Amino acid sequence: MILVTGGAGFIGGNFVLDWLANPRAEGIINLDKLTYAGNLATLDSLKEDSSHIFVHGDIGDKELVSKLLNEYQPRAIINFAAESHVDRSIHGPAEFIQTNILGTFNLLECAREYWGKLDESTQKQFRFHHVSTDEVYGSLSLTDPAFTETNPYEPNSPYSASKAASDHLVRAWFHTYGFPVVTTNCSNNYGPYHFPEKLIPLVILNALAGKPLPIYGDGQQIRDWLYVGDHCSAIREVLVKGKLGETYNIGGCNEKPNIEVVKTICHILDELKPRLDAKSYAEQITFVKDRPGHDRRYAIDASKIERDLGWRPAETFDSGIRKTVQWYLDNPVWVEGVVSGSYRDWLQKQYQ
Ligand code: NAD
Ligand code: TYD
Repeated sequence: MILVTGGAGFIGGNFVLDWLANPRAEGIINLDKLTYAGNLATLDSLKEDSSHIFVHGDIGDKELVSKLLNEYQPRAIINFAAESHVDRSIHGPAEFIQTNILGTFNLLECAREYWGKLDESTQKQFRFHHVSTDEVYGSLSLTDPAFTETNPYEPNSPYSASKAASDHLVRAWFHTYGFPVVTTNCSNNYGPYHFPEKLIPLVILNALAGKPLPIYGDGQQIRDWLYVGDHCSAIREVLVKGKLGETYNIGGCNEKPNIEVVKTICHILDELKPRLDAKSYAEQITFVKDRPGHDRRYAIDASKIERDLGWRPAETFDSGIRKTVQWYLDNPVWVEGVVSGSYRDWLQKQYQ
């Protein structure tokens, strides 16, 4: 077995589905607190699959985490569980500190205790894989080189600061206790099952609903977009071949200003589901107040994982974004399920 945390969220959910699509793969214990971002509908296809055990709970719950480790004896833990939305971290950072820092600390401590009791050969195989973000490195100017693994940490939002803190804990557990960890820092993901408060799914759904497409500030902030399936394949690669104590940057080499991303989505929708009045969805673009402390540019130098582990993304931005738009058109039932009262409250709070 492997233990996945946060496996009802966007990336964790995609990871669980991809992993179990391989009939020879080990089973998964999926520990998720089911916050607003966790959604069991993502895992619907696994309802009858005995190789998937879902556990509703918190990575910060010592008793529960220790019980799961002792009962299922996983040979690896992949920690996706986190509060992950920068805008929410600005409105209320407390949950970010609780889950991202204290939750990771608890998971590390429970896992270290469990690992310490394993026999030598099982100990050697064990891995704790911490899933993190490129946002820990801070913001780049237009001319700066992309982030490498040796860039200093300069987090600017409560979200990225809490992820940076968790990365430091993971690093320290390796250096101090010899606990077998690996960390990956990935750029912005997009794809199926993405909660529609993040830019790409928000724009797709607002466009179809005839609502404004909100662009913060001047829309010239740059993100390096990676299709979620490519992030999952990179994690699988690192789990097998990654060197203990190392960090690996994962990115798609797809730097795009936000305004370009939004216009691309509009053009794909114009083609796949034209507006009734035959005008472009781009007419719905609306510039709104900027995010406080908005990081200008993120870019990942993924040459280490390419060189050392042979990983490369399979999707280009053009192929991945088209698949993503098509997925949202094809899955109205999933969308209906996540667009709950609490989601509407969030839109009201953030965009008035
Ligand atoms: P998400 O918000 O969609 O999902 C997070 C999941 O974690 C949810 O299912 C939620 O219920 C669960 N969770 C939250 N607190 C928990 C707790 N205390 N105990 C157990 N489960 C809990 O996030 P995501 O976009 O899937 O991101 C997953 C991981 O990848 C995060 O660690 C994030 O920092 C990292 N990451 C995300 C991106 C991105 O673009 N989305 C990029 C790089 C790294
Ligand atoms: P987001 O998807 O929240 O990811 P992150 O903040 O982790 O990069 O946002 C991606 C970019 O899009 C970011 O620069 C903020 C911007 N953005 C908007 O312009 N409008 C929006 O409504 C949202 C949610 C984001």
